Amino acid sequence: MNAAPASQPDIKLPPAYRLIAMDSVGSSNDEAKILADAGADEGTLVWAQEQTKGRGRQGRTWHSPRGNLYLSLVLRPDCPLADAAQLGFVAALAMGDAIGSIAPPMLEVTYKWPNDVLVHERKVAGLLLESKSAAGGALEWLILGIGVNIQSHPDDARFPATNLIFESVGPEVNDALLLEAFSRHFLTWVNRWTEDGFAPIRRAWLSHAHGVGEAIEVRLAKDTLRGTFRDLDETGALILELPDASRRVVTAGDVLFAA
Ligand code: BTN
Repeated sequence: MNAAPASQPDIKLPPAYRLIAMDSVGSSNDEAKILADAGADEGTLVWAQEQTKGRGRQGRTWHSPRGNLYLSLVLRPDCPLADAAQLGFVAALAMGDAIGSIAPPMLEVTYKWPNDVLVHERKVAGLLLESKSAAGGALEWLILGIGVNIQSHPDDARFPATNLIFESVGPEVNDALLLEAFSRHFLTWVNRWTEDGFAPIRRAWLSHAHGVGEAIEVRLAKDTLRGTFRDLDETGALILELPDASRRVVTAGDVLFAA
C-alpha cells in the first residue's frame, strides 16, 4: 500500500470520529474503502497531506499537492443508496459553514449542484461519494471524500477554481483548522438530516445555491442539456427547464453557467 502515516497531529475532533492521519496516499478514498471493507466504524476519517492519485467526479483527476485538505469519511447510513446521496448536500453545507466560520463575515460562500462549494463564484471544494452495497442491495458503506483548495488550485479546471488563501479567507487558515471546523459542522447537519430528513437541507442549500433561475448547461455522460436551473427536487435532483418549457429531472451531470 502506497501510504505513509503522518506524525500524530495536534488536532481535536469530536468523539464521533476516529482520525487516521496519513502523509502521502494514492487517494484517501481508497484508504477509507480498505478500512471500511475491514469493518471500520462509521466516523473513521482518513486525512491525507497529499494524494498522488486524487480522484474527482466523472473519473477526473483531483489536483492534490501538499497544503490543501484531503479527507475521506466512512459512513454507514441506514437508508437506501438514493437517500444516502443526500449526504453530499449535508457535507457541502458543513464545509460551507466551516469555511464561513473561519472567514471574514461577508465572504460569499455558495453551492454549485450537486456538491461543490464556491467562494466568489469559483470552486474551492469538491465531493466524491463512493459506496458499496451488500448482496441484498443494502448499503454497506459510503465514503464521503472531500478536497478543499487551501493554498493552491488548478488553473485548467473545467469550472474555474480558486483557493482559500487567494480569496483572503484568513491568513491563518490551514487544513487542521478547517478539518476541525468541518467535523463539528458535519455533526450538526447530519443530525438535522437524521431527525428532519432532506427538507431543511434542501432549503439551506437552495438559499445559497449558485445560479438558480439562470441559464445553465448540464453535461451528461453522452449529451449536453441547456436550459434554466429552476429548482432542487425533494430527492436532490436538479430541475432544468428546457427551451420548450418542459422540465427535466437531472440526477447526475456537470453544471456550467452561461458567461
Ligand atoms: C470533484 O469535485 O470532482 C470531487 C473531488 C473530490 C476530491 C476528494 S480529495 C479527498 C478524496 N480522495 C479522492 O481521491 N478524492 C476525494
